[in-house]
Amino acid sequence: MEGKNTQSGYLLGRSSWESCRLNLQHYLFKEDFGYLLHPSVNTTEKSLIADVGCGTAIWPIQLAKTLPPSVEIHGFDIDLKQAPPPQWLPDNLKLDTLDALAEIPEHLRGKYDVVHLRLFVFVVENDDPMPLIRNMMTMLKPGGYLQWEEYDREGSILKTAIAGQSVQCMVAAMMFPTTLSAASRSQKLSAGWPSRLGQHLQEGGLQLVADEKKVVPDEYLAYQQDVNMVSLEEVSRGWAEEDVARFGDIFQAAEKERANARKGIAFTLRRRLCVAKKPM
Ligand SMILES: C[S@@+](CC[C@H](N)C(=O)[O-])C[C@H]1O[C@@H](n2cnc3c(N)ncnc32)[C@H](O)[C@@H]1O
Repeated sequence: MEGKNTQSGYLLGRSSWESCRLNLQHYLFKEDFGYLLHPSVNTTEKSLIADVGCGTAIWPIQLAKTLPPSVEIHGFDIDLKQAPPPQWLPDNLKLDTLDALAEIPEHLRGKYDVVHLRLFVFVVENDDPMPLIRNMMTMLKPGGYLQWEEYDREGSILKTAIAGQSVQCMVAAMMFPTTLSAASRSQKLSAGWPSRLGQHLQEGGLQLVADEKKVVPDEYLAYQQDVNMVSLEEVSRGWAEEDVARFGDIFQAAEKERANARKGIAFTLRRRLCVAKKPM
């Protein structure tokens, strides 16, 4: 499948379309939270910061612009296909490959003042983020900060701009992981762990410093739903043939329904940001 990362089992693609989706999503996160690093995360002129699963590298690129050039930033991903070439990166940003779920190499252990993660919801296995939390703890210095952002589906509702608007097709589209055959269904799609993120971090031995939840405001709901629709389409590329035959047109039907509603149908996903500190 074009742009699909079959080797690592990553559910999303690597096409330009998917990179645009990640970058729009980044701006929506930044707009809603109002910062890249939470104010409780203390940095100095000598801080060493890692962004793990950096995707297009837009977060570390923008962070580099807000911090002194002496701060070093390292972006890691299992696959750097979506990131710009090294020649176009800020001088204090270096990118490298890393499998965040495998054993962390010796030279990255206990090294970072800050580790950042965002949107691992389709990556974490068995609804259990603890192996990832343990690895991120390993990368942190004692007293270092882990900042992590995810979508938290708890309390999400399907919202319509016009009362009584038909939403049948959108409900089918958003429900699809539970309707697919086992061959297509991934346990990563129905993950509930982001709703318990703060608790997981504490269970992992970190001290929770901040736990923020932001509901997408009405003026950005249509853009957020654009992001949601593209991510569903991306995931559907990995479907089994029988599911394509049965459900192949649910996204087109949902888009048509949304167009009829002048884009006034959207899921009210909540953004969640946790900051946790590794004990000294
Ligand atoms: C949904 S994207 C989010 C990208 C970026 N953090 C952002 O917020 O824009 C998830 C990223 O995690 C990366 N990823 C998947 N599995 C990984 C692993 N085992 N180790 C490191 N990165 C991984 C993917 O390649 C992808 O770039």
